[in-house]
Amino acid sequence: MTEPRPHPLYLHFRELPLSLRVAYTGTLLVLSVGYIFSMIYVFASHAGRDGQPMFSADDLIIAYSGSKADTRLEAALKGPMAGMLPEGDRAAIVAWVRSGAEETAFNETVSSIFQQRCHACHAPTNPHLPDLTSYDKVMAMVELDTGMDIYTMVRVSHTHLLGITFMFFIMGIIFSHAYLRPVWLKCTIVGLPFATIFCDIVSWYLTKIVASFAYVVIASGALMGISFGTMVVVSLLQMWVLPPPAALADRLGGDGQLIP
Ligand code: HEC
Repeated sequence: MTEPRPHPLYLHFRELPLSLRVAYTGTLLVLSVGYIFSMIYVFASHAGRDGQPMFSADDLIIAYSGSKADTRLEAALKGPMAGMLPEGDRAAIVAWVRSGAEETAFNETVSSIFQQRCHACHAPTNPHLPDLTSYDKVMAMVELDTGMDIYTMVRVSHTHLLGITFMFFIMGIIFSHAYLRPVWLKCTIVGLPFATIFCDIVSWYLTKIVASFAYVVIASGALMGISFGTMVVVSLLQMWVLPPPAALADRLGGDGQLIP
């Protein structure tokens, strides 16, 4: 079986003018440095959220959907405010929060504790401390940590969708000059990042609802990275190091060299 003729519009890297190869090389190298910095940023901003130093799915779950473990009120009662009230009163407040922080239960069970133990400092007379003198004011401290707010997610989504599309369009154009068989593999490498950026961003929002979508975020990021790395390495090798493919010998001549 003979190898099919290359597509008439296909040009191998070695057929491109030297200046174009220089432009492609510069683009690939600078994009790679940018990619490394974006990885450093992702690790630095998320690793450690769950108390463990390494980056994990739990870090992403907390970043996008919140820890859901503690409210500010509970965190204060476990931490700096622990000495302000006896254990029994503290347990009563925590039980009230955990049972849904209803207003009737507040009035019946815990409002007298706040009055007795907290109002001395947490009242409108002290503007530097959260006011705890009414149900509504206390509720401001009872909000769960629900993770990154939608506004921030929308802002990050649009810059990612627009920026990454441009980046992988440029990468795809460059990589289209590589010689890689089978053709479906080459097309997968070019197309994959567009699919993964979409899955990645949709999963940020879904992680708020179903925590295990954090694994889709990680898998998408990993596949995008593999695709990026493959395009950079294969392109640079075929541009400068490897001999041109035998299938193009009649176009490129015996030594594979064209006038630059
Ligand atoms: C003797 C004064 C005093 C009393 C009494 C007091 N607090 Fe505080 N509280 C502070 C101070 C000072 C801060 C701010 C400094 C800090 O966070 O350590 C604070 C901070 C807080 C915060 C905010 C933490 C944050 O996330 O910013 C909460 C919530 C809180 N207290 C709850 C309570 C509760 C509930 C009680 C009653 C059981 C109480 N405090 C009793 C002085 C007091």
